[in-house]
Amino acid sequence: MTSPDVREFKPLRRREVQRMPEVLARLREIPKLWRGGLQVAPVPVRCEGGRHVLRTARLVLHTPRDFLDMEIGLAAGADADAQHWLGASDRLVVDAATAEHLLGIDDHNRVERLSSFPAAMRRGLTRPLPPGPIAWLLAVDVETGRAAGLSSLTPDGEIGLRLAPTHRGRGLGTELVEATTRLGHAHRGLQTVRAGTERSNDRCRRALSAAGFVPCEGPSQHTLADGRVTDAVWYQHEAKESESLGPRRDPGVV
Ligand SMILES: CC(C)(COP(=O)(O)OP(=O)(O)OC[C@H]1O[C@@H](n2cnc3c(N)ncnc32)[C@H](O)[C@@H]1OP(=O)(O)O)[C@@H](O)C(=O)NCCC(=O)NCCS
Repeated sequence: MTSPDVREFKPLRRREVQRMPEVLARLREIPKLWRGGLQVAPVPVRCEGGRHVLRTARLVLHTPRDFLDMEIGLAAGADADAQHWLGASDRLVVDAATAEHLLGIDDHNRVERLSSFPAAMRRGLTRPLPPGPIAWLLAVDVETGRAAGLSSLTPDGEIGLRLAPTHRGRGLGTELVEATTRLGHAHRGLQTVRAGTERSNDRCRRALSAAGFVPCEGPSQHTLADGRVTDAVWYQHEAKESESLGPRRDPGVV
């Protein structure tokens, strides 16, 4: 997507990330040393206080609870295929071993996996994510309880998408688009939700079409964060008349 989504998020520092496999191997031998005092905030079950929960057939999507949830979601797009389309700068991307470690986290092993991180990093990861202009959704696979991807919605209604490699090509991209669009219309009160993507990104274009998006006008070129200039195509989705525009009065799962 063309949205500058990850730029507002300060990720793990690259130097620390590069040391992760080494650090993890060492810490696995002395797991108890790093344990104690870690708490996992439960996944919210209702929308409240600017935090959202949505469902699709195979995903539960919620506002990231803390920086760890954000890192897990961003890890879904850390592979070379996703990075080609997303064009994030190197600085923002974790290496393959770290991405695998993060994507293997669920609510049962979260404390254990968190305890593998150095103390200073762990403190940073467990900080609650402060509210910001961009609405993020961490998509969790209901079958496995593990992260499937991450989407974003800017205040003016532009969406961004990334699914983990294991979750691509199974129709989940369409569900991710549908949920993020619902977030825009029903929760954020947006009449129109838009998406810009690269002309040659067939998977993304088809996921948008399958979710009911139609082509619209937009800038024909877009420069990604890594400097690559792309041919952009634009899509939009209008709220149906029957659809209530948010913010919702009654908190609940939509
Ligand atoms: C873009 C993305 C979210 C789409 O999700 P997805 O799960 O791959 O897509 P879906 O399985 O929902 O499939 C959507 C459509 O693409 C088709 N598709 C799936 N894999 C495909 C592939 N490798 N090549 C071409 N089309 C493909 C599906 O058949 C479906 O088309 P249909 O509705 O006509 O049957 C996902 O591929 C992704 O995260 N890619 C990497 C990051 C990225 O490109 N982000 C967007 C940047 S603009």
